Amino acid sequence: MANVKFFSGKSLPVEMHKTRMVQKLNLLPVEQRKEAMLNAGCNTFLLQNRDVFLDMLTDSGTNAMSDQQMAAMMLADDSYAGSQTFVRLQEACTHMFGTKFLLPTHQGRACENILAQAYVREGSVVPMNFHFTTTKAHITRMGGTVEEILIDEGLNINSTHPFKGNIDLAKLEDLVARVGADNIPFVRIEAGTNLIGGQPVSLQNFREVSAFCRNKGIRFVIDASLLCDNLYFIKTREEACKDMELVDITRELGSLADIIYFSARKLGCARGGAIVTNSRAIYEELRDFVPLFEGFLTYGGMSVREMEILAVGLYESLDLDFIMQAPLFIQAFSEELQAKGVPVVNPSGGLGCHVDASAFLPHLDQTQYIAGALAAAFYVASGVRGMERGTMSEQREPDGSERFAQMELLRLALPKRVFSLSQIQYAADRLAWLYENRSLIGGLRYVEEPKIMRFFFGRLEPVGDWMEKLTAAFRRDFGDSL
Ligand SMILES: Cc1ncc(COP(=O)(O)O)c(C=O)c1O
Repeated sequence: MANVKFFSGKSLPVEMHKTRMVQKLNLLPVEQRKEAMLNAGCNTFLLQNRDVFLDMLTDSGTNAMSDQQMAAMMLADDSYAGSQTFVRLQEACTHMFGTKFLLPTHQGRACENILAQAYVREGSVVPMNFHFTTTKAHITRMGGTVEEILIDEGLNINSTHPFKGNIDLAKLEDLVARVGADNIPFVRIEAGTNLIGGQPVSLQNFREVSAFCRNKGIRFVIDASLLCDNLYFIKTREEACKDMELVDITRELGSLADIIYFSARKLGCARGGAIVTNSRAIYEELRDFVPLFEGFLTYGGMSVREMEILAVGLYESLDLDFIMQAPLFIQAFSEELQAKGVPVVNPSGGLGCHVDASAFLPHLDQTQYIAGALAAAFYVASGVRGMERGTMSEQREPDGSERFAQMELLRLALPKRVFSLSQIQYAADRLAWLYENRSLIGGLRYVEEPKIMRFFFGRLEPVGDWMEKLTAAFRRDFGDSL
């Protein structure tokens, strides 16, 4: 997405790619959307894709691949051991991060499982800018706890801080002084942060945290799943980095961290995961878990075709034209919504557009799963599938009490290169209608609540008949429109 100016003075992101393969979409009438949502237990994870118009659930494994990635699949070397596909992926990781060792896994949470099994013990404390659902689940499963030491601006939806994902060094120092470095298996930075609006971390913050960890002898881990967007923000928001090559930034990250891991469903637009490190000792500590949980060391549970896709995807992630597409579309989406008065997280971050569900539905309280209710209502109003990122996505406390999320967000993910601007305008238009009719939206309650990661499979029901009322209001206002 090069610097393209319009004669009209308009500012629009222009794609530097064209579409060569498409998937037909289906938009159900509103009455059928309501039925589909009720059948899905008011949980957007449980919708059938045939009932979804625009799938903004996630960017995980849903990014569009390039022609080069498709072509690379044909080169895959299926050998169980000594596969040349592994060599090509290792070279790509070395090119990107400057790291020597690669441990492939079947996806991002598998890396988290390995790190937790290797390093987390009963009583361990793992400081991080912010947790991700799977990360926390693996750490707590091993008896550890997560401590979030994000800068205060990170949780302030209206703060315009350019790097709201940064770690607060003073909080980190204080935590280490309190619990002791020996009880901290690693410090983790998620770049950028999934649950708080895709907010990025500055290179300066990586440097400071790395220096602190080295000084204290604590491992420093970077979760690079959302690194593409974060790289774009480092390049465009951090004055000192504006002339740096993207590859120089990623290699510096490789030198600052002891371990980098990522979901290749996100970074690299493939389906898989990987851990990379420069330390032979760490490599040897983690290596045995790969054949135990994932597969042989040269594929780690990934298909070799996906590994070839990933290798190309990593090189492509160093192309500014590619990495700026998603953040600029997300920004356009957020600006469109703000112009219509819809509250969103500011500044717009990566991954997707994040609607502030608490401000959208001030008449609901967190016991009624505000963001979940908004996700369900938005599907009924539009056929667009978003994801709840709020209290439903939290784990209950060990005593069974509810843990209320610090932010109630409806995330509308924009997988890379998938949606057009007119589709984004459609989604923004329906959300603006919903905002006008927000008083109709009621809460949800669980009818089936799994113990672990309940947001995936939990089933809920609307409190009262608000979905029927919402459907009727849609018919009244939109006539015979889908
Ligand atoms: C920041 C972050 N870390 C880890 C993961 C887990 O990766 P996966 O879904 O591939 O298991 C995700 C997935 O969304 C993520 O966003």
